[in-house]
Amino acid sequence: MKLTRQLSTLAGCLAACLLSPSTMAEPASSPEEVLLALINETGSSYLTQSEQNLMMMADSPAYWTIEDGADLFYTERGPNNVTLEGCDFGKGPGVIEGAYVELPRYFADTNQVMDLESRLVHCMTTLQGFSPDDPAVAERHGSSSDMMKLQAFISNQSNGYAWNTPLDHPLEKAFRDAGEVMFKRRAGPMDFACTTCHSDTGKRIRASVLPNISNASEWTKAISWPAFRVGQDNLRSSTHRVRGCYWQMRQAQVVAGSDAAIALMSYWTDAARGAPAILPDMKR
Ligand code: HEC
Repeated sequence: MKLTRQLSTLAGCLAACLLSPSTMAEPASSPEEVLLALINETGSSYLTQSEQNLMMMADSPAYWTIEDGADLFYTERGPNNVTLEGCDFGKGPGVIEGAYVELPRYFADTNQVMDLESRLVHCMTTLQGFSPDDPAVAERHGSSSDMMKLQAFISNQSNGYAWNTPLDHPLEKAFRDAGEVMFKRRAGPMDFACTTCHSDTGKRIRASVLPNISNASEWTKAISWPAFRVGQDNLRSSTHRVRGCYWQMRQAQVVAGSDAAIALMSYWTDAARGAPAILPDMKR
């Protein structure tokens, strides 16, 4: 499996080299190397909690999903029969290397702050001409959905890059600030806020050690999605994680792609600023 992957990476690399030498640099390290470096630096009990996952990361089933995503990205699709190379993820059309660690960000063409998922939806509907209810766009969950395949491929191009969301535009700052209020506001039948469980180091629920948002070296792993969830045998997105957390708090659900969901991600990504992304990560 690993050899196949390496060969196909090599083939993809050769093609990319010929097309644009400046954007093909291989990530300096694998996701497990990024994680190991963080572990060596911090000794965090959150980062070290699953030795088994660390051992399995090099052969993560996520790599199959990433390969499928690369195929989808470069295939002419949709009623307009074009690839996604015309899609601007913030660094210019078709530039995906290092793009994910700078999302969510403001896009002038939509006058909105968008995360990876909402940007993909935008490009698939406008550039490729898919209707929003086409399964290619509408199915968002699980490794077999086009959306997860594409997210896996694009985010993998940011492995090892430091989270670095722009805050220049007033809307980017407003979203980050709104996300902070959401993260800290207690509500619902349990009177929980995200901070109730995610603002201490070494806090546990049963066997799980919880990440502390005020420690970027821990928090980077917490927000490194899409990640392969071993217990669910599927790749899961940031959106899926946000929904899981609201469910855990017994609060009303956030709508995927809504300003609220994106604001929360703007805040949680800002909190990991400067720490390297682990993509794809592997979770319990
Ligand atoms: C009652 C405690 C609790 C609250 C409140 C809570 N979480 Fe969590 N959170 C957890 C637990 C437990 C996990 C690990 C879940 C698992 O492994 O299935 C987790 C996991 C996460 C992760 C992923 C961590 C990882 O290792 O990948 C993120 C990010 C996260 N929560 C964000 C939030 C946000 C945002 C909120 C508020 C909307 C929130 N959490 C509220 C308990 C909580």
